[in-house]
Amino acid sequence: MRTQQLGVFIAGLNGAVASTLIAGVALIRRRLAEPLGLLSEAYVCSPRVARFGDLVFGGWDPLGETVLQAARRHAVIDGQRLAAVARVLAGLKPLPAARSQAAAVRDLERFRRRHRLERVVVLNLTPTAAHAASKLYAAAANRAGCGFVNFTPNQCNESRLTAIPYAGRDGKTGQTWFKSVLAPALQARGLRINGWYSTNLLGNEDGKIVGHPTTGKAKIRDKSKLLGEMLGYEPFHKVQINYYPPRGDNKESWDNIDFEGFLGLPMQIKVNQLYRDSVLAAPMCLDLVRFIDLAARRGETGAQAWLSYYFKSPYATRTHAADRQLGMLVDYLKTPPA
Ligand SMILES: NC(=O)c1ccc[n+]([C@@H]2O[C@H](COP(=O)([O-])OP(=O)(O)OC[C@H]3O[C@@H](n4cnc5c(N)ncnc54)[C@H](O)[C@@H]3O)[C@@H](O)[C@H]2O)c1
Repeated sequence: MRTQQLGVFIAGLNGAVASTLIAGVALIRRRLAEPLGLLSEAYVCSPRVARFGDLVFGGWDPLGETVLQAARRHAVIDGQRLAAVARVLAGLKPLPAARSQAAAVRDLERFRRRHRLERVVVLNLTPTAAHAASKLYAAAANRAGCGFVNFTPNQCNESRLTAIPYAGRDGKTGQTWFKSVLAPALQARGLRINGWYSTNLLGNEDGKIVGHPTTGKAKIRDKSKLLGEMLGYEPFHKVQINYYPPRGDNKESWDNIDFEGFLGLPMQIKVNQLYRDSVLAAPMCLDLVRFIDLAARRGETGAQAWLSYYFKSPYATRTHAADRQLGMLVDYLKTPPA
């Protein structure tokens, strides 16, 4: 067994986030890019998280193209950078989407044997609303003894995942992350938030799904409920997601915050964020893979609330304020294993 190496098996290997993550790791390994946007970089030595060179990728996707073709199609990373890692990405192709839990377990065991891996983490990056597939992959991870990360808003029958450590649900990458930074800061000043209007444009494949009134429902719910839970009262809160293809993976969001200060006098804040969807998400997924592996090595099982910082609907906690969530993460990492 190669004890240093960590297998990362991704459901949705040819998606925008997964292909950005894999291309990013290849670029970082060759020192062609800096590992920015990762919290786990601070913990490469102690407690030791897997190094970039230790990661071995595999995964499922119904699209039979190579990860190079997928990365080119998503156009998140420019062609010049992709050319530098083309050989690695062209050598990686997904297995077809698994049709049964037993088949998915077999895939994981084969991947483990082929690369002689002791540890494998399953990362769920299936499309929004792919609930059945997400449940199947989560159950397979549980049976195969692989830590599980659910970065999607999808249901995974989490209560059945008793044999492994897992974290989720729905990555808190941009607008909602900033909301969870700003709202507690305003509250800490004793200011009263009356209204928060959030809207955004997104033009990638995920934008097509989450911008739809039916399939986007869970995402809107995840983005909406945390404000009231953070503040302890319910200001008027409106969240909109609009599919707008010309922007592709580059999203834009606007927030208008109405609040009252001293003597109840009204004030406003306007926030305009121009993000790259997958560029925010990919390093967070890498952090999560490294941290869930750490939890597995410590013998943890069940929902890992200390990873709530990364999620809109964190399992096993209702703490949403970013500063408090970050405190939980740092405390866990500082605590020596039992
Ligand atoms: N990018 C972000 O900032 C962000 C934030 C929070 C959550 N997420 C979530 O991450 C997930 C992935 O996002 P993305 O932008 O990469 O989406 P994407 O649509 O680009 O990728 C999804 C991939 O899953 C594949 N797929 C479909 N059915 C499958 C199955 N049964 N098994 C395996 N693979 C399957 C698709 O072919 C596609 O390649 C989404 O659920 C999204 O909501 C993303």
